[in-house]
Amino acid sequence: MTRQPLVLGIETSCDETGVGLVRGAELLADALASSVDEHARFGGVVPEVASRAHLEAMRPTVHRAFADAGVGWSDVDAIAVTAGPGLAGALLVGVAAAKAYAVALNKPLYGVNHLAAHVAVDRLANGDLPEPCIALLVSGGHSSLLVVPDVTGTVEPLGQTVDDAAGEAFDKVARVLGLPFPGGPHIDRAARDGDANAIDFPRGVVRDAPYSFTFSGLKTAVARWVEAKARAGDDIPINDVAASFQEAVADVLTRRAVAACRDRGIDYLVIGGGVAANSRLRALAAQRCADAGITLRTPPPRLCTDNGAMVAALGALMVQSDIEPSPLDLPADPALTLA
Ligand code: KG4
Ligand code: ZN
Repeated sequence: MTRQPLVLGIETSCDETGVGLVRGAELLADALASSVDEHARFGGVVPEVASRAHLEAMRPTVHRAFADAGVGWSDVDAIAVTAGPGLAGALLVGVAAAKAYAVALNKPLYGVNHLAAHVAVDRLANGDLPEPCIALLVSGGHSSLLVVPDVTGTVEPLGQTVDDAAGEAFDKVARVLGLPFPGGPHIDRAARDGDANAIDFPRGVVRDAPYSFTFSGLKTAVARWVEAKARAGDDIPINDVAASFQEAVADVLTRRAVAACRDRGIDYLVIGGGVAANSRLRALAAQRCADAGITLRTPPPRLCTDNGAMVAALGALMVQSDIEPSPLDLPADPALTLA
């Protein structure tokens, strides 16, 4: 195909209804509707509420994406959709919508893996992904280190969290500190006015698994520290706790990622997923990669958290790579893996 393919991408794996339009590797539109406010009082995403919100937001969000991009239905060459992993009911809404659009427009359908899309989105900001690269994938549901020879194909997992995902740890610690859900951005903000060296929180190590992560000990250590302060009747220095916790997470993630690059002799690191929006993780990764001679690639923060552009970005790459489209009975797979 000489003309760059125009791909409509639909994302509904969790609480964001994302609709993106991408031409080749050019971002044309990134429309988002979030049901996060509806979940906030429960302290976590309520699947049934998320599914219903996707259903209501789908059509207006698709229409907004087309208006923002200034393109029409007939310009679309393919439809890409997150097939998994994620919440079953939420995924189903996106997959059903994508099938309907594919049939109505008579265009091919591409089911994509949400985790691969978190990595592929970087191409919209920084050009073609270097292959192979090491990917550090850190979101609300996943934390893993991967060797990625080709983001449209299979990847080699090096390690992952053995308990909480990095984003989950941010959300749980935020709760302990009385900050709103989802906690990551609030901790990031509070940490700016805090001292990252104020409290020496533990850096969890997984025995015999140098590329794996554990965050439950850290989370418990933060909770214990805060409880002890409260018992003593002292004020909780929220900014210092946030900064010290964030430092522990960023330290562990970047240390393991740089080690993976070094051990594998791969000089490119891509960081993706919601936690990749974290300012301290980005700064520390930049510093450590520069010291180690590794080229770091991070999508802009807006594209790190869930969105439709990442799905369109991977879909466009699949079209350009002549990958076979998905059948129209493509299932939503809540437990879809990368390997
Ligand atoms: O990738 P994502 O939008 O959804 C999943 O696929 O899970 O990631 C959401 C996670 C949440 O846990 C949220 O607290 C975290 O990403 N997050 C952050 C930041 N922005 C979002 N964590 C730390 N710092 C941030 N700035
Ligand atoms: Zn995600």
